[in-house]
Amino acid sequence: MSHIKQNISLKPYNTFGIDVLAKHFVSVSNLEELNTVLALKEYPNKLILGGGSNMLLTKNQKALVIHINLKGISIVSEDDNFVFVKANAGENWHKFVLWSLNNNFGGIENLSLIPGNVGTAPIQNIGAYGVELKDTFVSCEGVSMETYQLKSFSKAACNFGYRSSIFKQQAKGKYIITSVTFKLSKRAHKLNINYGSIASQLETMQITSPTIQDVSNSVIHIRESKLPNPKEIGNSGSFFKNPIISKTHYNTLIENFPDIPSYTISNDEIKIPAGWLIEKSGFKGKRFGDYGVHKNQALVLVNYGNAKGSDILNLSKLIQKTVKRLFDISIEAEVNIL
Ligand code: EPU
Repeated sequence: MSHIKQNISLKPYNTFGIDVLAKHFVSVSNLEELNTVLALKEYPNKLILGGGSNMLLTKNQKALVIHINLKGISIVSEDDNFVFVKANAGENWHKFVLWSLNNNFGGIENLSLIPGNVGTAPIQNIGAYGVELKDTFVSCEGVSMETYQLKSFSKAACNFGYRSSIFKQQAKGKYIITSVTFKLSKRAHKLNINYGSIASQLETMQITSPTIQDVSNSVIHIRESKLPNPKEIGNSGSFFKNPIISKTHYNTLIENFPDIPSYTISNDEIKIPAGWLIEKSGFKGKRFGDYGVHKNQALVLVNYGNAKGSDILNLSKLIQKTVKRLFDISIEAEVNIL
């Protein structure tokens, strides 16, 4: 039976590096342990902790914090062209990407260097450089917090959208994802190099016929140049989602801000990079003591050392208010505030 510890600092368990205490903490490394811990009646409130890369901890946690440490990657089946790979929830996401590249399995190379674990990746349908988790996702398994039964979720059941899934909607807080199965290519890899600066980065690297490894290297290079490494500066990646506004709203904005970047989503929907809105609001690179807005990517809030979660939360509210006042756009936090 796993050992329940008391008053454990969560600083090493969240990429923002916020120092709050878990009153009760347990790490589970197999399904049996997880089931036993879930059934403990003396801890009615539980908080599930994966890679800690999408959360802002604003206070000490009274619930039993369950750290999901389920490890293992296995090939479920394969044919000449594709392989089905099952990875357990506690595997580090980037290590899993590197494992797939070492095996020459393609499909997730654009998602290189995203912090967090395999098990939390489907919750917000992680995405970067033109690829989302859902593109290679086959299914996942999760344990019900109520019945402790293992349930399988097909891709359709997950209802994936931009930074969203059923696990952020109807099934929020109801399941603990324990494993994810992916369909990866073994040959004739379909490369996605049209997004943003991947193509120009490949050109700089003088690569004319890129491999999946080359694409991964470009993504790593771009991310390292724009995004802070959580091991050096605490952060949680994009703090906000990119907002979607109406065409009418966009048409009024473009009169005052002719340089506003935009991506068309549908006939009446336009996505605006929140990073641009925050930069235009004057926050990019602003530092307030131990916390602030990253200098290279305004979407990322950072902890330079000993920031409190509440300081960062207040800054995020100030940013939201300012963006609302200047552009009449509400930007929504992407990270979970706890
Ligand atoms: N921009 C600015 N100032 C900034 C940042 C961005 O003006 O400080 C504008 C620029 O016009 C730039 C555009 O925003 O061309 C887009 O920027 P970028 O390519 O960096 O992408 P993003 O929309 O800001 C999204 C994801 C990132 C992901 C990148 C690349 C969201 C919320 N964020 O950012 O995801 O890495 O695209 O695909 O969708 C994450 O979720 O943690 C994350 C880092």
